[in-house]
Amino acid sequence: METILPILYLVASITFIVGLKMLGSPKTARQGNLIAAFGMVLAIAGTIFLYRGHSGEALHNVPFILAALVVGTGIGWMMAMKVKMTAMPQMVSFFNGMGGACAALISLMEYKATGGAPMGLGHGLATIAGLLIGSISFSGSIIAFGKLEERIKDIRFGGQQFINNAALLAALVIGGLIVAGQMSGFEIVVGLAVLSLIFGVLFVLPIGGADMPVVISLLNSFTGVAAACGGFLYGNMVMLIGGILVGSAGTLLTVVMCRAMNRSLLNVLIGNFQGSGATGAAAGATGTIREVSATDAAVLMAYAKQVVIVPGYGLAVAQAQHVCHQLEHELEAKGVTVKYAIHPVAGRMPGHMNVLLAEADVSYDKLVEMEEINPEFPNTDVVLVVGANDVVNPAAKTDPQSPIYGMPVLDVELSRQVIVMKRSMKAGYAGIDNDLFYRPNTSMLFGDAKTSLTSLVTEVKAL
Ligand code: TAP
Repeated sequence: METILPILYLVASITFIVGLKMLGSPKTARQGNLIAAFGMVLAIAGTIFLYRGHSGEALHNVPFILAALVVGTGIGWMMAMKVKMTAMPQMVSFFNGMGGACAALISLMEYKATGGAPMGLGHGLATIAGLLIGSISFSGSIIAFGKLEERIKDIRFGGQQFINNAALLAALVIGGLIVAGQMSGFEIVVGLAVLSLIFGVLFVLPIGGADMPVVISLLNSFTGVAAACGGFLYGNMVMLIGGILVGSAGTLLTVVMCRAMNRSLLNVLIGNFQGSGATGAAAGATGTIREVSATDAAVLMAYAKQVVIVPGYGLAVAQAQHVCHQLEHELEAKGVTVKYAIHPVAGRMPGHMNVLLAEADVSYDKLVEMEEINPEFPNTDVVLVVGANDVVNPAAKTDPQSPIYGMPVLDVELSRQVIVMKRSMKAGYAGIDNDLFYRPNTSMLFGDAKTSLTSLVTEVKAL
């Protein structure tokens, strides 16, 4: 009996690592998720039924634990079944918040269990770090959830950074004093939790709604670290490993997103990005633009050897993924090779385009990452940009004054012909003009992406 539980924990840890690796590709992600979930079930069931304390006693309160599991699983299941693909980030944020709250509660209960007796450095550090980080992650995630649901507005005011820094510093100092044994008492620890919760709210309030995916990823890594602290407290290896995996994966995703946007994490966190949120007109527009009709665009594409579709945020807004897939079918029926160019931060959440296109059953092997597709553009006859803007802006390569200078972009301008589908000349997220629209090999097909793609499907069919 005694050896079975560590073996289960080992198996569970391996499933987490394998599952995480499989999440790296859309082809294997679903299976990876199931494998890791299976590992989690093993770890939880093993703990409930096989755990034995120092004096050989079984886990207490098993009926309560099972009841909580049933209620939690039921709520989680219902939310996951009901959620729309586009509302995934808010659900991830909400669930992440729950993880943070659990970690904070574990620390609170562990502190209470000591009855105020000195905890020792390691134990104290893990307890207080779990409480502080878990509380920040909980309240920050709930604010991020509210922002993505558009129920909470961005709030910025003078001296905000100072207040935020002061709150964080105060929390760190109090935490440090508790760990050092200079301060004690359950009320003080509860006070620290409240201060951390307040900091979590203040920290996320000024950050723009469109930057929430980065913040959620960061908070996710916080929850991982807080859970790892819980694992340390209980000497539970699978909790420690799980927490570390979440913590490091969240940190890496945050770094990757910031790099792909060419922004520093600090720039995201202080909430000062001057993006227009796709509402302002493109500033400094110069040159003339060429418009193309759906009929002419259809002819260009139907007689091409290779067409590359570049999806962007506008595809999500128009919910045009299904009709886009239809166009791909029609073109392939005419012998055209069709691929999708996927930019890492196209849209507004990590993997946004992958998720949308998967929903429309677009084959995974047609989705080509930026690094792989860029060398193909000079040999591509037509690029169809569907509601993308910043991710195809050549200024990122040529204009050192541009706010997106240095951000890796798709080299669509190198193809023979570019057709850009959008509703107007308005800017995208970064709020800047796009010189691509004025290039001699670019034509604009104005209109809502779904309407324009539907016309294209009809026209290609008729050829
Ligand atoms: P954007 O640069 O935001 O451009 C989207 C374009 O879609 C707009 O110019 C808009 O032009 C058009 N559009 C909107 N609704 C449309 C509709 N119904 N039909 C047709 N067109 C429509 O998008 P992108 O190229 O995907 O770039 C993403 C941006 O978001 C990057 O700057 C990135 O850094 C930022 N960002 C991404 C993430 C993640 S994780 N993906 C997170 C935070 C920020 P019209 O209004 O003229 O139609």
